[in-house]
Amino acid sequence: MNIILLGPPGAGKGTQAARLEAGRGMVQLSTGDMLRQAVADRTPVGLKAKAIMEAGELVSDAIVSALIGEGLDAIGDQGAIFDGFPRTRAQAEALDLLLSERGRKLDHVIELQVDEDALVERITGRFSCANCGTPYHDTYKLPKVAGTCDVCGSHDFKRRPDDNEATVRTRMAEYRAKTAPILPYYEERGLVRKVDGMAPVEDVAAAIDAILER
Ligand code: AP5
Repeated sequence: MNIILLGPPGAGKGTQAARLEAGRGMVQLSTGDMLRQAVADRTPVGLKAKAIMEAGELVSDAIVSALIGEGLDAIGDQGAIFDGFPRTRAQAEALDLLLSERGRKLDHVIELQVDEDALVERITGRFSCANCGTPYHDTYKLPKVAGTCDVCGSHDFKRRPDDNEATVRTRMAEYRAKTAPILPYYEERGLVRKVDGMAPVEDVAAAIDAILER
C-alpha cells in the first residue's frame, strides 16, 4: 500500500507517519527529513536547500522528486508513506511517474484538516531530543524530569530553525498557494480521504487506521 499524508505544517503528518511505520511495516518517506539530513551532511543538495528551508519556501521540484525516487528504490516492496511530498502539481505528476515506473500505485491521499492558527502554537512549541529524536512540546509534552530525555536520558535538545512564527506563516502561505491546489488532482481520481487533524493524536490515528482497513 502507498499513501500520501497531506496537510499544512504542523498538521501531524510526521507524527502519524512514525506511528504507521512502527505499526504496519510501511516506510515513511519524508522530504523534509531527507532535506534536513542533506543540510546536516553539507551535501550539494543540502547547500542549495538550507536557506530556502530557513525562509519557509519550497525547494525545487526536481530536487525533491529525485530524493523520493531514491527513497522508493531503497525500500524494496514495502509500502510507502509520503510525508511532505508532493507539494506542487509538478511533484504530484512526478510521483505518478515514479510509482508507475516501479509497478506501484497510490491507494489513499489522506488530508489532515486543521485550524492554521492552532498550528502555529503546535509548531513553535515543539522540540526534540538531539540524541534520539524523541519529540516534545513546551505546553503539551515536557520531559518527565526537566531537561532530561524520557527515552535516552540525554540533556541535549534541539529546535528546527524553521519553527519560528514568521517562517511558519510563510510555510502555511506556501501550502495554501501551491499544495492545497493539488487536492482536485487526486479528488477526480477518488483518492482523497479527509481526517480531522485537530482531534487528539490517538483519534487521528484511529481514523487513519479505519481508512487503511476499509
Ligand atoms: P517538512 O519537514 O515537510 O515540514 P512541514 O510540512 O512544514 O511539516 P512539519 O514537519 O512541520 O509538520 P507535520 O505535519 O509533520 O507535524 P508533526 O507531526 O511534526 O518541510 C520543511 C521544509 O522542507 C519546507 O518548508 C520546505 O522548505 C522543504 N520541503 C520539504 N518537502 C518539500 C517538498 N516536497 N517540496 C519542496 N520543499 C520541500 O506535528 C507538529 C507538532 O504537533 C508536534 O509537536 C506534534 O507532537 C504535535 N501534534 C501532532 N499531531 C497532534 C494532534 N493531533 N494533537 C495535538 N498535537 C499534535
